[in-house]
Amino acid sequence: MAIAAVRDAAVARPAVTLARRNARSSSASSRRFSGGRRPPGLFASSLAPSPRSGRSPCSAAASDGRRMPSSPSGEYPAELRDLHVRRMVEAFDPGVPLPQAFTPPSSWYRDPSFHNLEFERVFLRGWQAVGYVEQIQNPHEYFTGRLGDVHFVVCRDAEGRLRAFHNVCRHHASLLARGTGRKLCFVCPYHGWTYGLDGALLKATRVSGIQNFSVDDFGLIPLNVATWGPFVLVNMDEDSPAQVEAEWLGSCSEILRSGLDSSLKHVCRREYAIECNWKVFCDNYLDGGYHVPYAHAGLASGLDLDSYTTSVFERVSIQESRIASTGGDDLGRLGSKALYAFVYPNFMINRYGPWMDTNLVVPEGARRCRVIFDYFLDAALKDDDAFIEKSLEESETVQMEDVDLCEGVQKGLESPAYCSGRYAPGVEQAMHHFHCLLHESLTRP
Ligand code: FES
Ligand SMILES: [Fe+2]
Repeated sequence: MAIAAVRDAAVARPAVTLARRNARSSSASSRRFSGGRRPPGLFASSLAPSPRSGRSPCSAAASDGRRMPSSPSGEYPAELRDLHVRRMVEAFDPGVPLPQAFTPPSSWYRDPSFHNLEFERVFLRGWQAVGYVEQIQNPHEYFTGRLGDVHFVVCRDAEGRLRAFHNVCRHHASLLARGTGRKLCFVCPYHGWTYGLDGALLKATRVSGIQNFSVDDFGLIPLNVATWGPFVLVNMDEDSPAQVEAEWLGSCSEILRSGLDSSLKHVCRREYAIECNWKVFCDNYLDGGYHVPYAHAGLASGLDLDSYTTSVFERVSIQESRIASTGGDDLGRLGSKALYAFVYPNFMINRYGPWMDTNLVVPEGARRCRVIFDYFLDAALKDDDAFIEKSLEESETVQMEDVDLCEGVQKGLESPAYCSGRYAPGVEQAMHHFHCLLHESLTRP
């Protein structure tokens, strides 16, 4: 299995490779459009980097140790809001070495103003995983999705070209396409304006007598779209780089590509609406297996936790574990090794045995997220219904255990008892790396 190559390549690197800026040199299939619109900036100027200190963000934010105030509604006058958000961002100091570092303050996980900033600086910039290639394998196939206020549709036009658009009718803004499927054209459910899958407005109904109007000016607004391996990515930023692979995966691209080098077919999708900030789910994923023996008894018996390693790259971290030889995985679901790759900011690729599952963590507000699991299986096992059913059952058990953990953490983050915590330096390197990347995104001009 190609995963062996993945592991060997990853462990050949130091346990923690410090992030370096992306080299935008390699190529990937991508299409560039000029129609994407960057929303107006929340800040007129960039956020300044914070001074280095080993103090708790709580004490950095308020000299008497109380945590900084936050507005449940996020409705501040612009000036105060900017200051408020700036203080929250600066309350985490990425310059402090991991053994001395404090985690970001709880306001990062519950404040609506902070959440808005994240959307602008993290999700509306850079390549974001949104789906998988099998969804739009053939001409006329499409799927829809949402990232914050951005509703998008990804499709293949009649010529088989990959396209992505804002899923908003140019007449009176109705959402246009729904769900996923196959269509010759998109007909708006409101007044029937009709668009080709290349985005062109084909028909504007009942507009006779209209002046200063050309259908050419009212096509769907395009988004940048690309594929990498089995995944579909979009980029909301009109200045997005064409080098998807380098920007998205950096030096990890070869490692991950070899890990996916097998015949994997999509089996099913499961979605979990979780009452927690999206980062709580990511943090839980990135704790280096720390919680596994305490929270996942079944999974823990299947993994050889002494073999667990974490490697950190530019925007990717990889956690790996051998599978226990003592029979914890009777079904054979896990194979001989498990690899968990986190691609900043919100995408996880899990490869084990004949399976791959991906987790897309979609923020749905400061205190709520949706995690979309897509399960892929080696094609040779695609018809083994009993194996698939039992595997999904085992996976579901783990997911529900994680949902419970994450919702518990969110409740704790809401409590006045908690502002900030510490990292376990031997296992939580990937989580610290994630927080440092977030800080970088939030402070980059
Ligand atoms: S809003 Fe789409 S046709 Fe009117
Ligand atoms: Fe877990």
